[in-house]
Amino acid sequence: MVKQVYPSYFITGASSGLGRHLALELAARAAKHNWPLSLALTARRLELLEELKKEIAALAPAVRVKTAVLDVTWDDDAIWRVITECHAELGNLHCFVVNAGIAATARMIGASDRNFAVERPVLATNLIGAMATTDAAVRYIRENGINKTPEQAHIVGISSFSSLGVTNRSSYSVSKAALERYLDILRMESAGQGIHVTTIIPGYIDTPINQHRPHRPFLITAEAGAVAMANAMTVRGGGAGNALVPWWPWAIMWTVFNWIPKWLYFWYVPRMTKGHEPDQAKRD
Ligand SMILES: NC(=O)c1ccc[n+]([C@@H]2O[C@H](COP(=O)([O-])OP(=O)(O)OC[C@H]3O[C@@H](n4cnc5c(N)ncnc54)[C@H](OP(=O)(O)O)[C@@H]3O)[C@@H](O)[C@H]2O)c1
Repeated sequence: MVKQVYPSYFITGASSGLGRHLALELAARAAKHNWPLSLALTARRLELLEELKKEIAALAPAVRVKTAVLDVTWDDDAIWRVITECHAELGNLHCFVVNAGIAATARMIGASDRNFAVERPVLATNLIGAMATTDAAVRYIRENGINKTPEQAHIVGISSFSSLGVTNRSSYSVSKAALERYLDILRMESAGQGIHVTTIIPGYIDTPINQHRPHRPFLITAEAGAVAMANAMTVRGGGAGNALVPWWPWAIMWTVFNWIPKWLYFWYVPRMTKGHEPDQAKRD
């Protein structure tokens, strides 16, 4: 049975890809089952958020939507201000989807381009931005007692299969690996307090972040990815943890890659990714 646990969601990176399709999927479920739903949709491109708001209004007129510009690399006060503005308009916010992210240009460590600068925004957005969003969200949840409401609260962070460590994607891989560890720490710190934590680990889902890449194994559509994400986010409490999206075949591969000896991983991964990169990585 399709379950939608929360009456409200705050989503970063909602203007495109997974964030956008997740908002549409949640709205469709609410409309179908007559569930109350409020969505706080944030990103840097307001015009895309406004288009999404119109689409949701056509699909699910009863769903309340607040759009807000939020760049997750802004300072902490600015992130806090956006959350409190959304609360003022929509009421209690129960589930925060920490989704905003960017990909890195394919680049080897120490590349002759002398362009480490391209790596910095990846860490600033995917890791520091995600941590700052999570920090503000957890403070908001505690200060407003959202975790003490019957629905409780949930932080959902979007990592990546690349967190295992992929050649020519060092900053992206590191940003996602560190985010997973950060969410593990939150899971321990908030255990038993009504703040659930889920780390979504997608494989390849067809969105603008990877549409330039020539090889996208086991690719699924953004619509299918959103369904799988929405399902994974309904698992709470003791069940909350890592969710591979889609489950098949990534959960199997995740288990294998986490258990094989490191030397085998180090031998296999560069061979697996060789020739997949169209740009810098091939030249260096
Ligand atoms: N698609 C996949 O196969 C896949 C696989 C693994 C992990 N992921 C992760 O899934 C998440 C969503 O990616 P996607 O696939 O949906 O890609 P996408 O279509 O490119 O969407 C990325 C979203 O992040 C937002 N964003 C980027 N920088 C931001 C910033 N500084 N502040 C606020 N929002 C920002 C973008 O909106 P604005 O530009 O309007 O701000 C956009 O809405 C990312 O964290 C990505 O790493 C995706």
